[in-house]
Amino acid sequence: MSLDPKLPRPELIDFHGVSMIRYFTDNWENVQDFQARPDDILIATYPKAGTTWVSFILDLLHFGQTERQTSVPIFNRVPFLEIIIPSLSSGKDLADNLPTSPRLIKTHFPVQFVPKSFWEQNCRIVYVARNAKDNMVSFFHFDRMNMIQPEPGDWSDYFHRFLDGKMVFGSWFDHVNGWWKKKQSYSKLHYMFYEDLAEDTGREIDKLCSFLGLSRSDEEKKRVMEAVHFDNMKKDKMANYSTIEVMNFKISPFMRKGKVGDWKNHFSVAQNEQFDENYKKKMTDVTLQFRTEI
Ligand code: A3P
Repeated sequence: MSLDPKLPRPELIDFHGVSMIRYFTDNWENVQDFQARPDDILIATYPKAGTTWVSFILDLLHFGQTERQTSVPIFNRVPFLEIIIPSLSSGKDLADNLPTSPRLIKTHFPVQFVPKSFWEQNCRIVYVARNAKDNMVSFFHFDRMNMIQPEPGDWSDYFHRFLDGKMVFGSWFDHVNGWWKKKQSYSKLHYMFYEDLAEDTGREIDKLCSFLGLSRSDEEKKRVMEAVHFDNMKKDKMANYSTIEVMNFKISPFMRKGKVGDWKNHFSVAQNEQFDENYKKKMTDVTLQFRTEI
């Protein structure tokens, strides 16, 4: 099955108080009824926070470098639960039919949208967060190249919309804070940061292994680290999304830069000041700290 590259750009809608597009809400009832299994692992992120990177790491840690790695794209190995696009299998159907155990499942839902069965089954959840400035820049380039995202407009418009939370999956501020709060009451949630992963991938893989209850040899972990290096993932057709027709890599590749601090190439001095002021007002929980450089 292939995706229709001429799908119209979707409009943002208000969905239970969160900006969304229909490709992530049209299957709402079925998604809400999803039956999680106790060993399912949910990878939750705000879009562009490092979802694919962490999905790939978890997939390799669990299943190793098998034939699956060279024949099944990451978006089929780790289905995107809420996605429903004409002529493609829905994420929910892919998740239901995953042959692996455990099943790795991806979502961009804010915490209040997560199907209740994940909580009832006490599933492990890995949440990945990325600093807002780099997250915004990455999202902007993604919206430029991905025809199933709304038109991004120019950078200055985008900048304001991001601050207003008028993005697909809503406000970055609400997302990272909502999940952070959940961590206080739900112990099987591992909250990690893109910047930490970039700084010391080995250390973060060790933390993931301990959270997931996996013991892997140094040799195995070294192999995973090598495979998930940005340059290798960028070349890997099963990880780099190059098989998806709605993404125009001539505009911007999916594996774009993979850096901490690229925001400095996009933010003007005035935008940076405006951003910092706005950020201070919204990020009042001092226990949640991000790094915009490493
Ligand atoms: P940039 O656009 O800043 O390059 P997601 O998977 O959530 O959509 O996130 C995509 C972002 O993660 C992109 O950021 C992409 O380049 C980056 N990324 C993906 N794999 C990476 C890796 N192995 N190392 C560093 N960054 C990675």
